[in-house]
Amino acid sequence: MTTPPALARQIPGFNAPGVGFEQPFAMLEACHERVQRTLALLGRLRDHVRDHGADEPARQAARDVLRYFDIAAPLHHEDEERHVFPPLLARGAADVVALVQRLLQDHHHMVADWAAARQPLQALADGRCDALSAADAAVLDRFAERYARHIKDEEHVAYPAASHLLPDATLQAMGQEMAGRRQSPVAGRSGPVSPR
Ligand SMILES: [Fe+2]
Ligand SMILES: [Fe+2]
Repeated sequence: MTTPPALARQIPGFNAPGVGFEQPFAMLEACHERVQRTLALLGRLRDHVRDHGADEPARQAARDVLRYFDIAAPLHHEDEERHVFPPLLARGAADVVALVQRLLQDHHHMVADWAAARQPLQALADGRCDALSAADAAVLDRFAERYARHIKDEEHVAYPAASHLLPDATLQAMGQEMAGRRQSPVAGRSGPVSPR
């Protein structure tokens, strides 16, 4: 199983040094780290716009946040829905099954949250607005806050339980499928998010 390094770098969130698709759960955790870094960038962007308005650095940061959550986050959710959640729903303990059902609901809410949150960010990126309103702030808060508990539950409960259930051959196939889905022209089209 190999992933062309140049192409891997094109996928936001999948350029973690020292982590490869042969360790799929490490890749999933690397994606969480990038989610958290991109949410931190979003927080700095909001402070910057409040203090300085929507200048070029703000527009670039908005483009970086948009690129990450438009491209990499859906791929990450699909990784989990294909490989992590099904074995837990089929063979997990009752409390784990209930948690996975909530994680799946979170994914649906995150799609709706992002559809709302990306509107003010796109307006910033396009130079169509100079400030974020209180309503924009509420939408961005809701989007960011849902991730905190979600990531914690995945890393502390779902990932350990799923990796315990999956044999090595299945883990290898999981990593290959994750790598393969990131080699499509659509997935790689928009280029990397700047490291921050
Ligand atoms: Fe998730
Ligand atoms: Fe996740």
